[in-house]
Amino acid sequence: MYAETVGNAWPAIVRSPGTAAGVLIGRAADDGALVRLDIGDRSLKNRLIDVFGGSGQGKSFFAQKLMLWFLLWDAWATAVDTVGGYETLCAIAGGKTIRLGGPGTAAINIWDGPRATEEELAARVRFVVRAHEVLLAESGRPITGRIRSVVGQGVRAVYRACRRGETPTERYLVDWLEEQATHQEDHEDKRLFKDVAADLYPYVRDGEHAALVDRPTSFGFDTRLLAFHIDPKELRPDTPIYAFVMFAMTDIADRRDVLAQEWGRRSGRGTVQHLLAIDEGWNILRHEAGQDWVGGIGRTGRHSGIVPMFVSQKLSDLTANKAAAAYFDQTSLHFLFNMHDTNDESGVDPRQWVARKLGLTEGEAAQVGDLAGKVAPDKKTLEYAQMFMIRTTKTANRAARGVVNVPSAAEEAWLFASDPDDKEYRARMVRAVARDPERPIGDEVYQAVCLLAEGATPAEVYAARVVPAPAHAGDHDDREAATAGAGGAAWTAAR
Ligand SMILES: Nc1ncnc2c1ncn2[C@@H]1O[C@H](COP(=O)(O)OP(=O)(O)OP(=O)(O)O)[C@@H](O)[C@H]1O
Ligand SMILES: [Mg+2]
Repeated sequence: MYAETVGNAWPAIVRSPGTAAGVLIGRAADDGALVRLDIGDRSLKNRLIDVFGGSGQGKSFFAQKLMLWFLLWDAWATAVDTVGGYETLCAIAGGKTIRLGGPGTAAINIWDGPRATEEELAARVRFVVRAHEVLLAESGRPITGRIRSVVGQGVRAVYRACRRGETPTERYLVDWLEEQATHQEDHEDKRLFKDVAADLYPYVRDGEHAALVDRPTSFGFDTRLLAFHIDPKELRPDTPIYAFVMFAMTDIADRRDVLAQEWGRRSGRGTVQHLLAIDEGWNILRHEAGQDWVGGIGRTGRHSGIVPMFVSQKLSDLTANKAAAAYFDQTSLHFLFNMHDTNDESGVDPRQWVARKLGLTEGEAAQVGDLAGKVAPDKKTLEYAQMFMIRTTKTANRAARGVVNVPSAAEEAWLFASDPDDKEYRARMVRAVARDPERPIGDEVYQAVCLLAEGATPAEVYAARVVPAPAHAGDHDDREAATAGAGGAAWTAAR
């Protein structure tokens, strides 16, 4: 499927930002050579990825493209975003979108999770206590050692009471705190237990966020593609509940990774890569817990299959944060879309700053500021977006880098674009190609994407008839759109 081309020959790779093999992500802007990415390539320093660029420049589009490729290569993928950008991908690739916030919110019960052994239980207790630090952080009361200790006692007591397999939810802790309050002789102790319980009221029973926090987890972790859509209108990014959700993501990602590796072993695939895209990544850095997590990934890397991808508008989102800066410092793959980072160092020319941070010449930093996509003949869509790719290797002093055109054929455009005007069109296309969830990605979608990525035109893809009739018929138009013969016109007509 992946024809070798002159562009992949070894000497070119020395200069090319891409790796020798792997998924196709675009073409070099200077000589048109294919640029590939194999995240397992031994030249790479590690598997950390970051994607930066101004609004609307193509970050999320690119992140999804990469995600689809990973899925086609047997990987698992988890996405966290605030605009629901991954829903179309989930719909066609057998993934699930989990909406968090608002009346129909999914539930995340931080209390479940492995605790069969003493070590597992200890780890779970630590996690649940830390999650409460996040929830209680903005109550106006500082988290004193005393509060931490009370919560720790409570969490252990709740688990002890549930030894026989019952899974607690948040109200168990609040009940324990209230009961303890009644036993305290000392007035201040009584107050403390009562206050902590009261601070948790919004998260239990009929509290504002109880549906999210105080119920059994409402989704399975074992879907190969899971996209979390946090609605920022419902869960405001400056609130403790938002920070809590972000913190819970760290645990979900780790637990999914364990499942991914089990799946890999069972199916004889070996280590499974697990792409973890944190879109609008600046959001996760609003709270210390998120900063520590992101920084921790940077400092320690991961033994498991997680391939973290931090997507944000500015470099300084990461670099300005002491804890999280380690992620940026270590990242092996930088993908930069058009970006004007005004950074926080006053008096420093932004271009010089970007150049210094990324080890670029000033000329290259200027290229980053000049990146532009090519507008398609319809004058509405883009034929490709441009990015500057930097691949840091273990050995070379100078990172391989260059401008890459990230193409988009009509079939990809409807999949990954986010324009609100095209919502109905996307829904129709999803109905036309959505597959049986048991077969995550239809072979025909796989083939179509491979052909397109290898430079085939949509007309050629149709001529090869890789897109058949939908398995379960939608309305008449959908069927027509999906079964049209040679020529991409029918897809376009579905608009
Ligand atoms: N490679 C591409 N080819 C064609 N069109 C593209 C490409 N990348 C982006 N676009 C177009 O640009 C629009 C915006 O892109 P995208 O959603 O990726 O922006 P973004 O960088 O994530 O912005 P934001 O920071 O606002 O989320 C897409 O909906 C799509 O129409
Ligand atoms: Mg985006």
